[in-house]
Amino acid sequence: MDYSEKEVFECGHAEIVNFLPEIGLDTAVTEIITGLRASPKRISSKYFYDKTGSELFEKITRLVEYYPSRTEKVILEELTLDEVTDCRDVDIIELGSGDHSKISLLLEKVPAGLLPGIRYFPVDISRPALESSIRELTCMFPELEVQGIVADYFHQMHLVPGGRKKLFCFLGSTIGNLEREEASAFVGDISDAMEPGDGLLIGFDRVKDTAVLERAYNDAEGITARFNLNILNVVNSLITSDFKPVDFNHRAFYNRELRRIEMHLEAGSDVRVKSLFAEEEMLIRKGERIHTESSHKFEESDIRTLAETAGLVVKNIFSDEREWFSLVQYGKEG
Ligand code: SAH
Ligand code: AVI
Repeated sequence: MDYSEKEVFECGHAEIVNFLPEIGLDTAVTEIITGLRASPKRISSKYFYDKTGSELFEKITRLVEYYPSRTEKVILEELTLDEVTDCRDVDIIELGSGDHSKISLLLEKVPAGLLPGIRYFPVDISRPALESSIRELTCMFPELEVQGIVADYFHQMHLVPGGRKKLFCFLGSTIGNLEREEASAFVGDISDAMEPGDGLLIGFDRVKDTAVLERAYNDAEGITARFNLNILNVVNSLITSDFKPVDFNHRAFYNRELRRIEMHLEAGSDVRVKSLFAEEEMLIRKGERIHTESSHKFEESDIRTLAETAGLVVKNIFSDEREWFSLVQYGKEG
């Protein structure tokens, strides 16, 4: 995660701007240390995504147990961009764009003559993920104008371009990684950045059988465990600390009451951690957990309430046959 220097650089024939330095390393350090001193301890899931974390997430999306990516893609394969927006002269802003494989499913069905009028703005906190994804995307769609934004979408929505018709995309059920109140406030922020006629597509993982959910976050190959443990390497590089991932065990389970998968790192023994930015050593007792991610699951009523709270309308709910995943089209009316 590159908080060092605001920078504009070329990638393929696109440009990427790194805006993370506007937030600054100090903010990240304070947030991480505050979380580690809290009770229960926590680390924000946005710190999963360094180069290794983004690569491990891509591996997760290909696991048999991890149905969300596959299921959302089945829905996107059936859709065309003009079903969700007028594709002439539109700006597509994808929040947490990852490997671009989902937006590509819409772009590849756009008639070639319309591509030069579309501008695509992928926004992601992971500079390596954005770079490799833009390199591929500009080869796949040479006519498309692409401008990459390395940023934290919680704090940097003001970076969204104005002046043209917009389609926001927040795919993959990344909305589930926010607390319920944060999700509601965040959709409100997106709505504030929308003009009447603009659109928003959000992917939601739906409530389902607990065994299916728990399998998806406890895969047999242990890739999700590696993804979870890797957050300690990211923390080490940001707060100059000496966490050893081997001291912790991956735990993931469904919390029925809060309708969410929770991921934690559980200390296998008493662990002492030093950081350049913390005067006192931190002690994590054997069996104590650090909460690294919540992945909320949604009912149709949640999807509708989010719209009402944010002043948006639900235009369409596209779901797979089993209703395991829904892609929801929201609109802003005048
Ligand atoms: N949308 C993609 C990727 C989902 S993984 C898909 O559906 O496959 C979540 C993505 O959001 C990662 O690429 C991660 O780097 C990014 N991300 C997480 N928190 C973020 C934040 N606060 N600001 C910007 N990007 C973030
Ligand atoms: C990105 N996000 C929606 C994923 C999820 O399912 O919550 C991240 C993930 N965590 C473990 N596996 C995948």
